[in-house]
Amino acid sequence: MEIEEKKVTTKKGDEFILRTPVKEDAEEILQFRRDIAGETKYLIRYPYEIENSVEKEEEIIKNYSKAEHIGMIAVFDGKKIIGLSSVSPIGLSFKTRHRACMEISVRKAYWNLGLGSMLLDQIVYMAENIGYERLELSVFADNARALRLYKKKGFIDCGQIPQAFKTMDGHYHDEVLMTKNLWKKNGKY
Ligand SMILES: CC(C)(COP(=O)(O)OP(=O)(O)OC[C@H]1O[C@@H](n2cnc3c(N)ncnc32)[C@H](O)[C@@H]1OP(=O)(O)O)[C@@H](O)C(=O)NCCC(=O)NCCS
Repeated sequence: MEIEEKKVTTKKGDEFILRTPVKEDAEEILQFRRDIAGETKYLIRYPYEIENSVEKEEEIIKNYSKAEHIGMIAVFDGKKIIGLSSVSPIGLSFKTRHRACMEISVRKAYWNLGLGSMLLDQIVYMAENIGYERLELSVFADNARALRLYKKKGFIDCGQIPQAFKTMDGHYHDEVLMTKNLWKKNGKY
């Protein structure tokens, strides 16, 4: 699914472009993924585990923009990607296809400017428009910034998995599962 390109303004007044990534952004997306994986412990992969080739990433981007049930959006500072978010189904079987999951990340130098909130609003809007009824995500239990963002946007904590993540320093981190009801008729939960 594609969205129309738009200008976004941060809390500090800087203007950036939010749009659907295109094939030509493949290398930049890979660079973004590697960089951000090195900037935070709160993503699933370490930089060396971002293994897609440029060709594979091009294929993924093409699928995201063509298929109607998935979507990817990025915030650009010039040609540089500074934020990325996507929505995709949990499963394609009848019993699960009303549920979607999402991911979101912003470069550290651009945190706390409101970009995460903008990306999340846009991804929720996309998920609603695709027709998903629930949006789900998983977050490290000690990722206070992300938890604050998700709660502010109406996600609720629906369970924890103890020691779900183990970092290279030997520490374990619990996982919080969160969900947001997109089926407005049905109220909050
Ligand atoms: C989580 C993430 C996407 C948020 O992006 P962002 O652009 O900083 O988000 P925003 O600026 O819109 O919102 C951040 C909120 O956290 C708050 N915040 C900042 N530091 C905080 C802290 N230490 N504890 C709690 N809240 C904090 C900010 O005040 C802001 O809330 P507000 O809008 O009510 O003031 C970004 O930090 C990120 O990419 N982190 C690394 C990857 C990651 O964790 N992704 C999520 C995986 S589930």
